Amino acid sequence: MTDALTFLKTRRSRPAKIMTSPVPGKEALEALLVMAARTPDHGKLEPWRFVVLEQAALRRLGVLARSMAEAAGTDVVDATKASHQFETGVLAVVVVESPKECLKFPEIEQTYSAGAVCLSLLNAALASGWGANWLSGWASHQPKFCMQGLQLETHERVAGIIHIGTGPALMPDRPRPDVPALTQWKKS
Ligand SMILES: Cc1cc2nc3c(=O)[nH]c(=O)nc-3n(C[C@H](O)[C@H](O)[C@H](O)COP(=O)(O)O)c2cc1C
Repeated sequence: MTDALTFLKTRRSRPAKIMTSPVPGKEALEALLVMAARTPDHGKLEPWRFVVLEQAALRRLGVLARSMAEAAGTDVVDATKASHQFETGVLAVVVVESPKECLKFPEIEQTYSAGAVCLSLLNAALASGWGANWLSGWASHQPKFCMQGLQLETHERVAGIIHIGTGPALMPDRPRPDVPALTQWKKS
């Protein structure tokens, strides 16, 4: 079996909450981003971009997420849950869905492409031996957090926040889907 197939058959995330330093340096991270961008993209629209969050930026976002969550109230969100990963994370990449105007293809395909970039970045990091985890969280879906904290434009959204660091080499696997039960074969 090739290394690629072994990876695809066994890959699993590492929980961001137990990831630590070291993290990839600038050159190593740039290489991961190049791999992530090698992703299907109907119309070559490049409807996504990256925002790299180093530790100080994560802490700044932790303060913002906590204050927004506290203002929203406990019936809406748990402030500690909303801010924890920003308060403790070591490095993260925000994959920003940045849709382009295009009449030729349905806009949802740009969303799918942004999701595909998230998985590619996750896999590139895991295959390179880093711990990695795709998270979102309450704050990432709040327009105020996106604009004030991440300087996104009004038409942009967070597709995913990929936390990258040093994680446990081995993790128990989670239960995996029963693929035959999810698959229909049309023979005619
Ligand atoms: C779009 C998206 C958002 C997610 N957001 C969170 C999150 O905020 N918190 C969380 O605990 N898991 C979240 N997850 C799930 C984690 O990524 C989880 O680690 C993952 O399902 C593990 O799968 P894997 O081992 O196959 O990589 C999210 C997954 C996706 C696809």
